[in-house]
Amino acid sequence: MTNDETIRRIVIFDTTLRDGEQAPGCSMNPQEKLEVARRLEKLGVDVMEAGFPASSPGDLESVKTIAGIVKDCTVAALCRCAEKDIDAGREALVKAARPRIHLFLATSPIHMEYKLKMTPDQVVERAVSAVKYAKAFCSDLEFSAEDASRSDPDFVCRVFGAVIAAGATTLNIPDTVGYAIPEEFGRFVRYIKEHTPAAEKAKFSVHVHNDLGLAVANSLAAIEAGADQVECTINGIGERAGNASLEEIVMALRVRRDYLKADTRIDTTQIYGTSRLVTQVTGVKVQPNKAVVGENAFAHEAGIHQHGVLANPATYEIMTPESVGISKNQMVLGKHSGRHAFEDRLRDMGFIVDPQTLDAIFAEFKALADKKKVVGDRDIEALVMGAAASVPETWKLEHWAVNTGSALGASGTIRLRHRNGEYHQRVSMGNGPIDAMFKVINRITGKEPDLELYEIGAVTDGSASQGEAMVKIALGGRRWNGRGVSTDVVEASIKAYIAALNAMEWELSAVRSQDQ
Ligand code: KIV
Ligand code: ZN
Repeated sequence: MTNDETIRRIVIFDTTLRDGEQAPGCSMNPQEKLEVARRLEKLGVDVMEAGFPASSPGDLESVKTIAGIVKDCTVAALCRCAEKDIDAGREALVKAARPRIHLFLATSPIHMEYKLKMTPDQVVERAVSAVKYAKAFCSDLEFSAEDASRSDPDFVCRVFGAVIAAGATTLNIPDTVGYAIPEEFGRFVRYIKEHTPAAEKAKFSVHVHNDLGLAVANSLAAIEAGADQVECTINGIGERAGNASLEEIVMALRVRRDYLKADTRIDTTQIYGTSRLVTQVTGVKVQPNKAVVGENAFAHEAGIHQHGVLANPATYEIMTPESVGISKNQMVLGKHSGRHAFEDRLRDMGFIVDPQTLDAIFAEFKALADKKKVVGDRDIEALVMGAAASVPETWKLEHWAVNTGSALGASGTIRLRHRNGEYHQRVSMGNGPIDAMFKVINRITGKEPDLELYEIGAVTDGSASQGEAMVKIALGGRRWNGRGVSTDVVEASIKAYIAALNAMEWELSAVRSQDQ
């Protein structure tokens, strides 16, 4: 309950770093995950699922790092109902102030028969023994009945009753394939809560996917039916059509608190900054008309609407842009702006940077302000993202030159500096300037990853805007992202490609040193 006795407090379980990150195109490197984890803590999530430690040594390490740094919320690790997974979860959470082990096992007939090849009795037995095994070192234990919405409700109650008796403290009802319809899902959740033996000893949670575009509606229906916790992701990223979007659930609860009689402890003014950060690190943009955080979420185009909003914003706005952290402060910075003004702006935008990074970003800001008269929030965001989430630079750009034209094709020269201090310079032809540049870099580095995505966009409107490039590369089944910003689009592209290669070099060298 909140201070108002009639309002229930809903637990926000964020799974951006696990279910979100495992979606195609949403991978993040360890630094990026840490950056997102810090923002989620500032946003005020109650639980953050930091990863699936048994899935890879890299995932285990990043859950471990996050668990050692995040202190204001519970850090959860996902584990299958298997001892080796639970051991990995235990190792990953060893430094967590508030650790949670999150176990899952499917309960639907189709999953039990075809995926698990287990009988219902075996599923109950496996779930109970996993809960007992994990309970020996972790008191906060969540159990998820995967594909619950397509399971026999009485079987879900049986499994839940058994795991509560074994020590589970949160029971999660996932709509794993996004199949449920709100009224039906609400009835399902109520039935499970009412028929699970010793239900009063546990909290009930839901975890909804968005295959039919109903994830948020289903989550709200579950809250009305008595769910205590909702699992969700920033920008709704996640498997297939994604997970329920955190910002939409939180704002629906805040704006319609009167009707839903429930709220969260989220600091809603951190929503927009967190959404932008996730967009930046994943390179996955939100649609312009996306509720709460889309570019047009607060734009009023029609004259009649504009007139109404000017007279009284409440005519067409059910929440203010400021309430979700979209700044009214349109103050732009320029080359005469000092370090204090710059630092203040960063703080207002929700960025926390160490003094060293601040020095580097401020120097870049000054260089940019020399080229571009005014520097806006998007420019600043691009500078911070370039510096904050980067990995050690195996390769650094020194110089580049390109020749291109309609008749001759393109040829490019690049000079890179290796972290051992050596300089390397090569030339290559290509099918256009970007292709030529990426080929030269491959020649120098001796790496030929697949280019899975290359995108270029403008940071702000107008011809003076900076170009922002996003690159995703893949090698041996692993993926890395890189981003680059410059007033020259070719340079932005080169920087993005090098950043992705540096992320690759860094991760592969960490894996090599672990193997030794
Ligand atoms: O969608 C799902 O069922 C999951 C579980 C692991 C909770 O992600
Ligand atoms: Zn899921």
